[in-house]
Amino acid sequence: MVLFFFQLKTCFRASSFLLFVRYNITCAQSAGGKVVLRGMYTDVHCHLLPGVDDGVESFKEAEAWLKRAREENITRVIATPHIRPDTYPNKPHELKHRFAELCERAKDSGVELQLGAEVYYRHDLAEAIAKKEILTIGFGGRYLLVELPLAILPAGTEDVFYRLRLSGVEPVLAHPERYIFSRDEPMRLAELAREGTLFQITTHSITGGFGGAVQRTAFRLLELGWVAVVASDAHRLAARPPMFREAVRVLANRYGRAAARRLAVENPRRLFNGEHIEPVACQPRRWRLGAFST
Ligand SMILES: [Fe+2]
Repeated sequence: MVLFFFQLKTCFRASSFLLFVRYNITCAQSAGGKVVLRGMYTDVHCHLLPGVDDGVESFKEAEAWLKRAREENITRVIATPHIRPDTYPNKPHELKHRFAELCERAKDSGVELQLGAEVYYRHDLAEAIAKKEILTIGFGGRYLLVELPLAILPAGTEDVFYRLRLSGVEPVLAHPERYIFSRDEPMRLAELAREGTLFQITTHSITGGFGGAVQRTAFRLLELGWVAVVASDAHRLAARPPMFREAVRVLANRYGRAAARRLAVENPRRLFNGEHIEPVACQPRRWRLGAFST
C-alpha cells in the first residue's frame, strides 16, 4: 500500500513537471515572434499629429512613426492630440488643417488616418461639442475620447457622461488603469462601467511598461469585463513608440485569442468606423489536462 502511494506521488510529480515544461514552451513560442492573431490592428488613441502636444514633433518624425506602425501591423490610426485648456489649448479647426497636411504627406504610408482628440475632462463636455470647442473621433463622429485627472475622479463624472450620451455621443475613457484612484480602488469606476462607458486600456500598460501596479490594474479591469478596446497611446517615437504585437501576445496568452482579437482587432476597427461596440469579457485561461483552456 505504501509502495502504491509512493508510485502515485512520483507519477503526479512527473506529470506536473511535464505540464510546467509545456506551459513554458508555449509562452516562449509566443514571445519569440510567432504570429498570435491574423488581421491588422487599428490604433484609436495616439499622439501622431505633429507639433501640437507632447507627441510627435515634426512631419518627418510622423513619417518614421507610421513606418514603425506598419511594422506592428497597424493599418488604421486615429490621431488623438490633447485638447486641454491649461497646457494644450488646441482648436478643432487648427487640428483639422494640420491633419490635412499629415494626410497629404502620409498618403503612401499604407495607413488609413482619421482625426479625433484626447479631451481633458470638463463638466460641460456636451456643451463644448455643440460649441465646436472640442472634437469627437472622426470630426463629428459618435465617440469622444476623454482623459480624467490623474489623481481624482471628479464628482459628477457619471452625470456628465450620461448627459453626453443623451446628446448622442459615447464617451470612451482613456487609460483607466493609469489613474491613481483606480489603481487604489478599481471599483470606483464601477458606476461608469455600469452605465456603459467604454474603457480603453493602453498596450504599454498590458506589457508592464508603466510598472506592475498599472499592469495589475489593467488585468483587473479586463477581468471585470469593463474594457472594450486597447490602443497604443504612443507619443514620441523614441520614448513611447506605437506597439501592439507584444501586448496582443500577453492578452492571447492570458485570455485566449478570441478575447485578444476582439480587444485589439475587431472593436478598434468598429470604433474607427463609428459602429457600435461592447466591452469584452476576459477570463484567465485555466489549467486543463496538459493544456490551457480558452
Ligand atoms: Fe494620450
